[in-house]
This record gives sequence, C-alpha cells and structure tokens, in this order.
Amino acid sequence: MQTFSNNYGDNINFRKISIFDRIISEIESSLSILSGKVESNRSNPSINISDKYLLSDEEKLFISKLMRINHVGEICAQALYRGQAFACKDKVIRDLFIEASIEEIDHLVWCSQRIMELDGRTSVLSPFWYVGSFFLGLMANFQGPSINLGFMSETEKQVEIHLEEHLNLIPYTDSKSRAIIMQMQKDEMHHKEVADRAGADELSNVSKAIMRIMARFMKEITYWL
Ligand SMILES: [Fe+2]
Ligand SMILES: [Fe+2]
Repeated sequence: MQTFSNNYGDNINFRKISIFDRIISEIESSLSILSGKVESNRSNPSINISDKYLLSDEEKLFISKLMRINHVGEICAQALYRGQAFACKDKVIRDLFIEASIEEIDHLVWCSQRIMELDGRTSVLSPFWYVGSFFLGLMANFQGPSINLGFMSETEKQVEIHLEEHLNLIPYTDSKSRAIIMQMQKDEMHHKEVADRAGADELSNVSKAIMRIMARFMKEITYWL
C-alpha cells in the first residue's frame, strides 16, 4: 500500500492507523501549517528574480495585502483537501486530494516568503479559515465522489480566475510576486484537470454562486485582517 510522506512530518497510511491517530495527525498538521513550519518541495519561482525596480511603500503595502489573500487561499486549500481526503472512502480519490494538498504547500510557502519580503503579515484569522475550510471539505464527501471532485474542480477554476485578477492588479515592476502567482495559476489549472479526469461532475449554478460569494467574503476580510 502506498504511504505518503509530507512536509508536516506525518506519514499517511490509512489502513494501519486508527481514527484517533488520524485526528491527532490532523491536529498536528494543522498546527504546522498555521505556524508556518512547513517546507516547499519546489524552489520559489521568484528566487532568481532581482528586485531591480524599487517598489514604493504604498505599492509594497498593497501587494503584501494581495499576497496575504493568496496565502489565506492556500491555507483554505490545505484544509479543504485534507478535509476531503479525511472523510473520503475511495482510495484513488483520497490519494488525489492528498497529492494536491502536498503540492499546495509550495504555494503556501512561496506566498509566505513574498509577504515577508514585502514587510507584510499573514492573516490573524488564518486558524478560523482553516477550521471552516476543513469542515467544508468533510461535508463535500456527503455529496458523493463525483461532486466531491466537482468541488475541487470548481475551486481550482475560481482560484485561477482570482489569480488572473491579481495579475491585473500587481504592477509589472513587481516581477517576483508575478512569477509566484503565474506558477500558482499554472498549478491550479493542472489540479482542475486532474479532478476533471478523475470524474468530477459540474456543480450546480447555485453551488458555484455560493462558493464565489464565500470567496469574496474571505478576500474582503483578509485584505484588512
Ligand atoms: Fe494553490
Ligand atoms: Fe490547486
């Protein structure tokens, strides 16, 4: 049986560990994610890009707030996919969620690094978003595997559109933030394709609208907090 090792320091072998151990493992993972004690597998796409254009203090503040939103988005992605994996009984689909969550760790770390470079801060409400997203992921399982995958597909689609909006807002002089967002956008499109190929059903227009409203609510709050 395949065992996943990830950057939270846990090895996930669902057949051998009890529900109690899995809950403890999830709590440990959430603490690692929220405290930033995770490492990326890939190097930061902006690592070899120099800050040749000096950003003004206003620009740095504005971009750091946008990157804070993206950081929270990745916190939510972690929690969502871990919640979806936690309750998923289909091993193939569960592995897909786990693999996606491991890849999203890179995005989380890159956003965090860029926020620090811009002298910004992460959201004080990250634990709140994490818990909410984890339970949302758990609930998605009750709709069946194809809707569970459809939820992943629609999430990635909406994130890709959101990242495009940020690329339109971030000045071209900030090549570092743009490089990170462009790689994230590429990865999110790949995640959508993975979910679609695995049998994702399209969500209802009502579900999609609710997701957009919730995301808008999260973005508005995170910009300030
Ligand atoms: Fe992501
Ligand atoms: Fe993704």
